[in-house]
Amino acid sequence: MSETEAKPGVQIDRNLALELVRVTEAAALAASRFVGRGDKNAADAAAVEAMRAAFDSVAIDGTVVIGEGEMDEAPMLYIGEKVGLYARSGGGMRADIAVDPLEGTSITAKGGPNAMAVVALAGRGGFLHAPDVYMDKIAVGPGLPPGVVDLDRDPAENLQALAAAKGVAVGDLTVCLLDRDRHRDMVKACRTAGARLMLIPDGDVFGVLAVAQPEAGVDMYLGWGGAPEGVLAAAALRCIGGQMQGRLMFEDEAQVARANEMGITEASRKYGLEELASGDVMFAATGVTTGPLLRGVRFFAGGATTHSIVMRSKSGTVRFVEGHHNFRVKPIF
Ligand code: FBP
Repeated sequence: MSETEAKPGVQIDRNLALELVRVTEAAALAASRFVGRGDKNAADAAAVEAMRAAFDSVAIDGTVVIGEGEMDEAPMLYIGEKVGLYARSGGGMRADIAVDPLEGTSITAKGGPNAMAVVALAGRGGFLHAPDVYMDKIAVGPGLPPGVVDLDRDPAENLQALAAAKGVAVGDLTVCLLDRDRHRDMVKACRTAGARLMLIPDGDVFGVLAVAQPEAGVDMYLGWGGAPEGVLAAAALRCIGGQMQGRLMFEDEAQVARANEMGITEASRKYGLEELASGDVMFAATGVTTGPLLRGVRFFAGGATTHSIVMRSKSGTVRFVEGHHNFRVKPIF
C-alpha cells in the first residue's frame, strides 16, 4: 500500500474540503443554465462535464465508486473511472469518490426546489459500492438515542418512539418521503399514526439531509430512493450528525448478480450509517435551485453566486460557502 493511500480509518487532508466545493460549484453553475428549460438530460450532461473537468485540479488519485453508471453506459464519471490531478501519475492521496453531478435532473428541468450538485470523498473502501438499485431508507437527525428508529419497525412504532424521544406528540412530527405510488402504504401508515408529511417530487439526498437541518422542518425520512443517493446522503449525515439505515431492494436476479459482482454478498442486509460511509468522510454540495438547505445559482451582470455546504466527519465542522464568480475574469460559459 502506498503511504499516501487513505484507508477508511486514515485522516484525509482537510484542505481537500474546499477543493471539493470548487467541483460542486462548477457542476451547479453548468446545470443552472438549464433550470426550467425542460431538458433534464442536457442539464445532467452539462453538470457531469463540468464536474469531470473540475476534478482534474483536485490533488488526489481518486476512483469513482458511486458515479453516473457503468463504464459502457456513462461517458464520464463512470464507476471505476480515475479522477484527480494524480489519477494518471499517481503520488497523490488515493481516495474513493461518490458523485451525483446533478441530484434532481427533473427538478432542474422544471425549476423546482432542492436540485444540487453533490460530491463525497472517503478513504479507499470507505463507501458501500452500491449498485444502481433502490435502497429502502430511514433517517433521523442528531441528538437522539441510538436505535430510536429502525427500518424493520413499522412507521407507527417508529413515529411513537421518535415522538417520545423528542418529547412531542406524533402529530408534531413531519415525515419526508418521495411522492411515489410505491410508498402508498407507508404514507397511509404515517397519516393513520397522525404524523404530518412532506411529499417531495424528487431529490432524496435533500430529504435525508433535511432531518439534520432544523429549518427544513423534517423529523424523519422514510422510503425507497436510489441506492447511490443513499450512500451520498449517509456521507452527509456522518458529517452533520444523525442516524440512518438502508437496505438494497432488488427487482430481479440480474440486479442481485450485479451487486454480487460489486462485492455485496448479503442481498437483504440492513446497513447502518457507518457501513454506508465509513472512516474520515467529506461531503460537499452546491445548490442549483433554491431550497431550505441551499440557495440556487443566481446570475448578475458578468457573473453568478453559488451557495454550498461543505463538511467533514472527522471535525464535524459544517461550512456554508458563498461563491461570487466573476465571468469577466474567469469565463465559464
Ligand atoms: P434524478 O435522476 O432526476 O436526479 O432524480 C433523483 C431522484 O429523485 C433521487 O433523489 C432519488 O433517490 C431517485 O431519483 C428516486 O428514483 P425514482 O424516480 O425512480 O423513484
